[in-house]
Amino acid sequence: MNAQPPIINIFEKAARKAGKALTKDFIEIENLQIKSKELGDFVTNADLKSEKILLETLQYYYPEFSYKSEESGDIKGNDEDLIVIDPIDGTTNFIHGIPFFGIVICKLYKNEIMDGVIYNPITNEFFWASKGKGAWCNNSRLRVSKREDISESLIGTGIPHAKRTYNEYLSEIDQITKNSAGLRRMGSAALDLAYVSAGKLDAFWERNLNLWDVCSGVLLVKEAGGKVTEPSGKEWGINSRNILASNNKIHNKIQEKLIVL
Ligand code: IPD
Ligand code: CA
Ligand code: CA
Repeated sequence: MNAQPPIINIFEKAARKAGKALTKDFIEIENLQIKSKELGDFVTNADLKSEKILLETLQYYYPEFSYKSEESGDIKGNDEDLIVIDPIDGTTNFIHGIPFFGIVICKLYKNEIMDGVIYNPITNEFFWASKGKGAWCNNSRLRVSKREDISESLIGTGIPHAKRTYNEYLSEIDQITKNSAGLRRMGSAALDLAYVSAGKLDAFWERNLNLWDVCSGVLLVKEAGGKVTEPSGKEWGINSRNILASNNKIHNKIQEKLIVL
């Protein structure tokens, strides 16, 4: 049964409100003001508007919590409860009119990820997970895929660009494409992880990410029966920048194809 915990209801309220504003901006993309934070890293007035709506709504219900949000940084509250926000994950897609982006809200208690949502307002996919309560999309329970063979598996990644490139990524891509059913670079790490939890992608890896990109997705994958580590196989933690998430069954096989950095 899909019994959404109260905190997820509040996250849903905030995400749907911000989603409405984003949908309007997405339809009127020509009016978008775009600023470059650094080469290949953009922020739009839509990111800022979404973040404002999310913070206003969440702070109304949880004024005592701490917040970490991509565009406005850290807001200090109590030491135990932290809400992490990415107002648009997939800004480059958004700017280019590609409807693959999501709003991320995630709750940590004493540094442990407890609840998370990812919402794509264009497709109306509302992904949520709470520790011990499973992973869901709208009213459907999510399970990772059952594929055991990499040759049948579809693998997601984030191709690094600008300052985020590292020397070995072409060899990693080479190894995975040679051995799998295909590679996808869809442009939102959060939704990529949600798609692993939904069994659409069989695995996903990317390096140089921030907590707001992956926090909700990590919980979704785990609650859907998948596995999350660093690409080296090392345990994933909230300070990790690199991630490998999978359906568990192909985890070691993918890990062997990636470079140990
Ligand atoms: C980005 C997306 C993208 C990933 C980048 C992230 P943003 O987040 O998740 O898929 O490859 O590394 O920075 O900038 O759109 O919030
Ligand atoms: Ca992001
Ligand atoms: Ca963002």
